Amino acid sequence: MTKRLELIASLIDENDRVIDIGTDHAYLPIMLYQKKIKCMGTDIHEKALASAYHNLEEYHLEKEIPLVLTDGLKNIDVSNYNTLVIAGMGYSTIKHILEDKTRLKKINKIIVQSNNDYDKLRSFLNQLNYTLKEEYILEDKNHIYHIMKYLKGKEYLTKEEILMGKYNKDYKNYYKQDLNKLKQILKNIPNNHQEEKQLINDKIKILSKYCQE
Ligand SMILES: C[S@@+](CC[C@H](N)C(=O)[O-])C[C@H]1O[C@@H](n2cnc3c(N)ncnc32)[C@H](O)[C@@H]1O
Repeated sequence: MTKRLELIASLIDENDRVIDIGTDHAYLPIMLYQKKIKCMGTDIHEKALASAYHNLEEYHLEKEIPLVLTDGLKNIDVSNYNTLVIAGMGYSTIKHILEDKTRLKKINKIIVQSNNDYDKLRSFLNQLNYTLKEEYILEDKNHIYHIMKYLKGKEYLTKEEILMGKYNKDYKNYYKQDLNKLKQILKNIPNNHQEEKQLINDKIKILSKYCQE
């Protein structure tokens, strides 16, 4: 199992009942089952679900962990679930999945790991009235991941927090890396892309401050 999935599993509590959307290999439902946590897996691709089923068979769990072929939460009976995990996807797919407001009513906790656009994701979940309780930055096999834990509830986030997350002194090294990366990116943005430049500049300002705190 990867450090990334282990961290995600550690954010699930014993009373959570989890839908792992885009389960692919079903590693997470298997890990959660071993911790006695109820979990179902869904995926939009048949091949992914076949791989999930194969892995469940290896652990003799094919009767214990339901698998559903579907797009996001479509056609899922969420009445027995209160937690979503959405990991390893891009922001636009995550947004599309979370746009099912009726089914989301039952969901108190969302663990989300997007591959990109963390600022847009924070803003979107804020608009959906979820509170960003924890955000972890994790390096695993040369990739940097942001793993966010949301609970239902309104919160006010500053523009700074939307753009770069809540300051955490443990992540100073990542802030430094990010700052250097953004400075390089800025150099390559043409002058007529003013909006893009402004956004990167805003992020650089925040990260420079985070690096000094
Ligand atoms: C890179 S894998 C991530 C697997 C696992 N969640 C993880 O984090 O290791 C992304 C999975 O999401 C699935 N997926 C993409 N869009 C989806 C959607 N709209 N609904 C459900 N699953 C989706 C893909 O088929 C793929 O299996």
